Amino acid sequence: MTDDPVRRTPLPGVLEPAGRTIGAEERAAVLRVLDSAVLCSTFGGEARALEAEMAELYGREAVACSSGTAALHLAVAAVGFDPGDEVITTPISDFGTVAPILAQNGVPVFADVDPVTGNLDPAAVEAAITPRTRAIIVVHLFGAAADVVALRSIADRHGLMLIEDCAQAWLGTTAGGELLGTFGDIACFSLQQYKHITAGDGGLAITASSEVATRMRLFMDKGWDRSGGRVHLMLGLNYRMTELVAAVARAQLAKVADVVKRRRESAEQLVSALGGSVVPALGGAARPGGGGSAGGALAGVALPSLAGHAFWLFPLIVAGDNHVWADGLIAEGVPASAGYLDRTLYANPVFSGPVYGTSRYPLEGREYPPGLCPNAERLIDQTLVVLPWNEAYTETDVDDIARAIRKANPDG
Ligand SMILES: Cc1ncc(COP(=O)(O)O)c(C=O)c1O
Repeated sequence: MTDDPVRRTPLPGVLEPAGRTIGAEERAAVLRVLDSAVLCSTFGGEARALEAEMAELYGREAVACSSGTAALHLAVAAVGFDPGDEVITTPISDFGTVAPILAQNGVPVFADVDPVTGNLDPAAVEAAITPRTRAIIVVHLFGAAADVVALRSIADRHGLMLIEDCAQAWLGTTAGGELLGTFGDIACFSLQQYKHITAGDGGLAITASSEVATRMRLFMDKGWDRSGGRVHLMLGLNYRMTELVAAVARAQLAKVADVVKRRRESAEQLVSALGGSVVPALGGAARPGGGGSAGGALAGVALPSLAGHAFWLFPLIVAGDNHVWADGLIAEGVPASAGYLDRTLYANPVFSGPVYGTSRYPLEGREYPPGLCPNAERLIDQTLVVLPWNEAYTETDVDDIARAIRKANPDG
């Protein structure tokens, strides 16, 4: 801690009431379910009501389940690929993006990302397509739109399913204002503790296809269609959302638009407090997004584009060492993390060792060496710093964050 840190009191965070929108509505929801004595969604109405409300919000059929990872598993299972088939995805995401591919005996193939946004580079995706590719899973990292228009067209040209992982991108849009989650054949959302809205854990998968929705619903409930007898139409697990979770999720869903709006407003305040910036390390590329360079622009930092961003986290791309940056911010009392991940997804032991028991199936003969996705590795190891973001941040909080960034800037 420096002698006189910018920030002495902690910013509101997701592990305390001040940093969550959990209140009277969620309390009433929990009691409503408890008083009904029906806690399983097979027999109650909360999960089905949540699905209807999500369907209304996104204009797609929705299936509720137990986590974001489960939602992605429903999606991957609904693709219906054969063991050993390939799914192209990003090396920068939560493990929940890739675990379902392996769980369905598929092979994750990692394509590199854009060096500034960390989102999948469509050219790298197209170059990774082989005769065994069946789907693409795109993540809207930190809430910023990946290039879903290009990815949709690649998927269509090659006959692939496109799955959008919107776990970090509730109500995010493209720069043109089109809702993320409406480009993919399926889109998946998370209600985990750290997300924009939460029920502790929980997930939702949406689709415009009633056939895909049926497959996801069956996979969510042991392949059991429940219309008559105990008939299991396909392999499925128990990924049902409980009624308690669904009731809380309904109350949270009603708040998501306001949560995203407030996060956008405070992010806009931070961007304007920091002025325009360029990234010398990236060849002086103009900072994505608006803002001029007047008023003390910060050297050596790229700020995210505001357009459509849902601001799950606030990413900075720095020209210096991201660990020095993060340590400097933490010393000023502002939480920060260098790289978001410790390593790319493919650098995790599961990609070099056995997957099932002592078997490496379905990854035999597959290698995921260092240098596979250089842009992703550079972001994690050198250039990316992420700040937790929160709908409860006040103007004073954001002023403090801006001052801490200026003070922590090793180039400043
Ligand atoms: C991009 C992304 N995908 C998937 C997941 C998995 O979601 P969950 O933790 O709800 O299983 C998360 C978050 O944890 C995530 O951030």
